[in-house]
Amino acid sequence: MAIRAIVTSENPLLREKSKKVSRYGADLQRLVDDMFDTLYAAHGLGLAAPQIGVLQRVFIVEMPEEVDDDGKVVAPGEQYVLVNPEIIRSRGAEEMDEGCLSVPGYRGTVMRATEVLIKGYDESGKSVRHKADGLLAQAFQHELDHLDGILYLDRLASPDKLYRVEVGQEEVEETFGES
Ligand code: NI
Repeated sequence: MAIRAIVTSENPLLREKSKKVSRYGADLQRLVDDMFDTLYAAHGLGLAAPQIGVLQRVFIVEMPEEVDDDGKVVAPGEQYVLVNPEIIRSRGAEEMDEGCLSVPGYRGTVMRATEVLIKGYDESGKSVRHKADGLLAQAFQHELDHLDGILYLDRLASPDKLYRVEVGQEEVEETFGES
């Protein structure tokens, strides 16, 4: 397992379309492990393989744990691994606040579907399907975009909806949404 360098938006690699994964096994498992290590190190919420320079259709999301008013954990942070993902249904549209580990120092307001149904495979090749709304739906759309060479910068609600933040702040914001 290893923390890998995160590719930033001036690198043309992030504009390429990633290839479908055709082999499940140790190499894919290692990629997913490295992606989680890298995500934790960056304090992000989601990461797509191209962000560590690997043009394969894989992304991960880890939702933050939910705590009550006393700081007690009421729901653990759920992990998602999506290989060859496809959004098969989406509903609604709303403006959401978003950042990206590959776009340090910025956040923006983008249009996203409110609800999505996504299908794909996990790292062992088992087929998975997740219905999501809110933050999780936003994360799935953001990460899937990375696999097609799309950045949230392409989806700004309007050109002036891009804001500077302190470097390091956008990272929490790959926690996107409400936070
Ligand atoms: Ni991103």
